[in-house]
Amino acid sequence: MNGRGPATSRPFVQVNCAVSLDGRLAFSGGKRAPLSGPRDLQRVQRLRAGLGAVLVGVGTVVLDDPSLRVHWELLEQPPGREPIRICLDGTGRLPPGARLLDGSQPTIVATTRAAHRHYPATVETLVTGDGPEVDLPTLLHALWDRGARGLLVEGGAHVIASFLRDSLVDRMTVYVAPVLIGGVGAPPMMAGPETHSSAEWVELLRESVEPLDDGVLISLRPRHPSGLPPPSPL
Ligand SMILES: NC(=O)c1ccc[n+]([C@@H]2O[C@H](COP(=O)([O-])OP(=O)(O)OC[C@H]3O[C@@H](n4cnc5c(N)ncnc54)[C@H](OP(=O)(O)O)[C@@H]3O)[C@@H](O)[C@H]2O)c1
Repeated sequence: MNGRGPATSRPFVQVNCAVSLDGRLAFSGGKRAPLSGPRDLQRVQRLRAGLGAVLVGVGTVVLDDPSLRVHWELLEQPPGREPIRICLDGTGRLPPGARLLDGSQPTIVATTRAAHRHYPATVETLVTGDGPEVDLPTLLHALWDRGARGLLVEGGAHVIASFLRDSLVDRMTVYVAPVLIGGVGAPPMMAGPETHSSAEWVELLRESVEPLDDGVLISLRPRHPSGLPPPSPL
């Protein structure tokens, strides 16, 4: 408990992603795009290590198969504590050979009763509801109970949409690379429900903008926070 009652007993949530100038997370069809420069990659390692837990959706695992480990060599420091890795897999389509299942560091697969799936003993399975989507407040409470005080949400487009639409984001950092991807098949930064008017868009407040590598890093927070944000561990 953090002293402010059960409603705020969740980790500080930071969404971080890299996008092209036209707001795409990847190439057409979701193929991974090398959008970050060296300093941005280093910044992401610092976030993973500092926030202590890192999350992606199963769509990202299927397309990118990330390890989500901290690349300590990029931080030029000896290996420290590895973050908890979390994957949202509400319907049980996480590939059996995914690197997240390799048992190399603490890993949670958050799923639902709709999945009917057994995961290997190398990971903790957390069933959050009837599905098909993972219930995010339930997951965040469970992470808090396991000692997590920060969570880095790395994507992809559907997961970023869910955290923003559920008002569960305390900070958003976006690295914008000076490249244009174009087309209609490249994933946008935020998927989820269609937006038809300004009554439905997600409003953020700019905290800072700084040049980084060849692009810019934008830091934002929600304009209408759902409550007092938990303290950031960074
Ligand atoms: N540039 C960057 O910084 C960056 C970072 C990460 C990812 N990416 C890119 O993002 C793309 C993948 O994005 P994506 O939208 O296809 O997949 P995603 O957001 O990684 O995963 C979405 C899937 O997660 C499952 N899920 C379970 N509970 C959910 C919930 N509460 N909210 C949302 N999803 C939930 C759903 O699986 P079911 O469909 O099985 O229900 C959903 O389809 C890839 O191209 C990847 O390269 C880019």
